[in-house]
Amino acid sequence: MKTTYRLACLVLVCSWFAISNGANAQRDPGVRGGLQNTGGGLQQQGIPIPHPPLISRNPTNGATVNENELASFEEGIIRAGQLESTCDECADVTDGSPVTGMGELDPMFPQSHTNSNGLGARHNADQCFVCHAQPTLGGSGGYIVPNPGSPKPQQAENPQFRLVPNRFGKQNTVPSFETQFGPSREVRFKYKPDGTRDGGVHQLWTVRGIANDPTISNCALTQPDFETQYRAGNLAFRIPLQMTGLGLIESIQDREILARHDATASLRATLGIEGHPNRSGNDSTISRFGWKAQNKSITIFAGEAYNVEVGITNEVFPTATEEDPGCQGQQKPEPNDVTRTDPDDTRNQAFDNPMHMLPDWMQFQVMMRFTDGPAPDPNPGESATKGKAVFAKIGCSLCHTQQMRTAPVMNSAVLQDRPVNLYSDLLLHHMGSNLADDIVQGQAGPDEFRTTPLWGVGQRIFFIHDGRTADLLQAIRAHASPATPQYPASEANGVIRTFNHLSPSDQQAIVDFLRSL
Ligand code: HEC
Ligand code: HEC
Repeated sequence: MKTTYRLACLVLVCSWFAISNGANAQRDPGVRGGLQNTGGGLQQQGIPIPHPPLISRNPTNGATVNENELASFEEGIIRAGQLESTCDECADVTDGSPVTGMGELDPMFPQSHTNSNGLGARHNADQCFVCHAQPTLGGSGGYIVPNPGSPKPQQAENPQFRLVPNRFGKQNTVPSFETQFGPSREVRFKYKPDGTRDGGVHQLWTVRGIANDPTISNCALTQPDFETQYRAGNLAFRIPLQMTGLGLIESIQDREILARHDATASLRATLGIEGHPNRSGNDSTISRFGWKAQNKSITIFAGEAYNVEVGITNEVFPTATEEDPGCQGQQKPEPNDVTRTDPDDTRNQAFDNPMHMLPDWMQFQVMMRFTDGPAPDPNPGESATKGKAVFAKIGCSLCHTQQMRTAPVMNSAVLQDRPVNLYSDLLLHHMGSNLADDIVQGQAGPDEFRTTPLWGVGQRIFFIHDGRTADLLQAIRAHASPATPQYPASEANGVIRTFNHLSPSDQQAIVDFLRSL
């Protein structure tokens, strides 16, 4: 009976195929438009600026951010909006450039000054927001106009294609995996030439050729040979995650993560879903940030990103990734970004506010802490509403846990004892050979990934750690992998099998639900 039904279904789908010229019956409607929940109405020099969403009122105790929290959040945006170059005088920045390629929105990109912290000799980009801008500042990847300030309007594109590699005269070759309208990819090498594991990030760009900085005009640093490594299958890619809602995720206690996991033990057992935490090698608590849950806190992430992505050393990561003396620039004290104890503001770009002592990395983490999680569509529609129920019923939510609660008492009243609709268990799962990237981080093995929090997924352009697809149906199907000699079967196989057997309208409902998040 069942088979006949499915066959009939197939025939229906096939004839539909013919009519619709090859389009799939179930379809990802694409990125949901609009900027949600940006709140706060911030201005810079009288001009409204886009900014990450400010954390909303705590539904449990009614608290909103206090005056100092708001001031820290705003200062964080200004600091993260500064463009880094090798010295203050090296580059004049054209104020503002559209950030999204989505058409209807044309927000100003706050890159107003150049910051003297000093772009690293090797770097992936020159500003946090270059990689965290979709659908608003603080989001995941995103497109940026290649020549900000150019009188001729230009379509926004992957900033790693023309903007960052060449900004201020830099002479970099763009590897073939960075395409004009593809995802911004960051590169790890799987193995070293001697066959032992590498796993570290290899920055894409160098400062060689940068104009207007005579102190490094002899810098001869070249890029690694990415193409050869790419052809040899030695590259593992990662796309940006979002910076939003991370203070809420950080405020969830380990006991909450473990209790939610325990609560589904019997259901998970029937489907072969396990899941385990990535624990810090130092204090053994659950680390939860990054694609493999490899980072313990947003403060560590801020310090690390400043050094790894932008090449700026700081108190958290004090050693440069590239120490070639010809490429450091004169008078660039190490670490580059520190708590400012100077008696006056002359070296501090006259920040001129009570926060001037705080280093940039510290401001980044405060900004992220008071950023709200992405807001779902307030009017999700019938199909998406049905999809939410089907998503839970077929077991997607056994990994993508809808809700957790923050700790009962936090230093900040706005963060404590409130629900977080993250859609993740914050745990690692074996995903099999199809997704394996052969990178080991802490207790995360070569085919293990943290369940990606799905809040905000409706407004992301690319999916899966390496950005392999922009289609949610492909992202779902990529969860399945049979066992191979190298890797176990994916823990998601049972759930994906059920998904594949759903009616086209139920599959569509799940996709519509995801696009409403
Ligand atoms: C070149 C692009 C790029 C730049 C610039 C960049 N990031 Fe990221 N960001 C990434 C990528 C890629 C990841 C995922 C990294 C991983 O897990 O391996 C990420 C992840 C993160 C996360 C973890 C989010 C989560 O859900 O766990 C935080 C926090 C973060 N970045 C903060 C920053 C800060 C702060 C800056 C500026 C100092 C910054 N990033 C600059 C690419 C970038
Ligand atoms: C066994 C645990 C597990 C189950 C079950 C599961 N997922 Fe996932 N999901 C993950 C993990 C882990 C990732 C990250 C994979 C990667 O990036 O390589 C992920 C990623 C995703 C992404 C991509 C998010 C992004 O921004 O890249 C989507 C969408 C998604 N899951 C939807 C679903 C849906 C819908 C279902 C049910 C049909 C489901 N998942 C079932 C663990 C699971």
